[in-house]
Amino acid sequence: MSKRPLVIFGIFAAICLVALPAWALTQKGGSDASNGSSVPASEQQGLQLFQINCGACHTLAAAGTDGVIGPNLDELLGTGPKSPSAVKANQSRVLSAIENGVSGRMPKGILQAAQAKLVAQFVADNVSYINP
Ligand code: HEC
Repeated sequence: MSKRPLVIFGIFAAICLVALPAWALTQKGGSDASNGSSVPASEQQGLQLFQINCGACHTLAAAGTDGVIGPNLDELLGTGPKSPSAVKANQSRVLSAIENGVSGRMPKGILQAAQAKLVAQFVADNVSYINP
């Protein structure tokens, strides 16, 4: 009996068991690419706070969140080039949204003082600005 079918099957099995998983591991999926890996260490806490407390309602590419209950923050805040004044303005806008809520649809006080500041800083710094 020829051993050929067996050899062919062996090669096929090897591809399935080794090559495909190896290939899959080297691929970066769309959602993985924006899981916050580009966020500096100093802002990781703000990133996590955002993912936990804001991501369910808001889309922000830098945090890899895709909530649709509130506005997409990349679109709302990233309307111009990144500049110190744009970052500062966005920071106070986000902070004010957290502290005061927004038109009764976004609850106020989701985060308190220090944590609210960390999130505002993170969002303002990492919005997808046009032509940064
Ligand atoms: C329960 C859902 C929900 C959560 C949680 C939430 N938001 Fe909102 N957010 C909204 C909605 C809805 C609006 C828009 C309200 C409107 O314009 O009527 C909004 C608006 C905003 C705005 C825009 C305010 C402006 O100046 O126009 C910012 C900034 C914002 N949210 C940031 C945050 C941050 C940061 C967090 C986390 C601390 C957060 N949101 C958590 C629902 C949410």
